[in-house]
Amino acid sequence: MDNSFPLENPSISRRQLLNFLTGAVVASTASAALYPVAKYFIPPDESSEAGTILAKDILGNPIPASQILAEPVGTRALVAGLAGEPTYLILKQDGTLDNMGIVDNCTHLGCTFPWNEIDQQFQCPCHGSRYSADGAVVRGPAPLPLKLVGVAVKDNAIWISPWTEIDPRTGTTPWWV
Ligand code: FES
Repeated sequence: MDNSFPLENPSISRRQLLNFLTGAVVASTASAALYPVAKYFIPPDESSEAGTILAKDILGNPIPASQILAEPVGTRALVAGLAGEPTYLILKQDGTLDNMGIVDNCTHLGCTFPWNEIDQQFQCPCHGSRYSADGAVVRGPAPLPLKLVGVAVKDNAIWISPWTEIDPRTGTTPWWV
């Protein structure tokens, strides 16, 4: 009886090696092609770093950045932000998201308010306060500018974080810090 191991046959060994190499090349090519597709459909890790969270829709589902970026430039898109606060994301003229989001919470008595496209202002319907496009007070009784949050896009996800830097509208420490 011949107990020799098949790999000792040089022709079989070459064939097996060729099959192995072909399989490895096909597998690595398929992985490289499918990785971005799989990554797109798998929700990102929602664990927060320093209070950072994913922007979500009204049903609590993360909103892909591509959905907001498909809107016309100048759009103010309302999403659920930190602690569920309604937050405006701003689509800039260059088609990217502004790194500054504006919390939809009037600093007078807390009403929410719409963006007025014609006047380019946030206008509170409760007592008439008006804010400029960056959330600075244009007309009272609102005593303070609108609260800001940080906005960042990473791998098609929108991350919202507390704004703790200098308030660019006043040049001072933000009133909410
Ligand atoms: Fe907005 Fe009073 S709550 S003006």
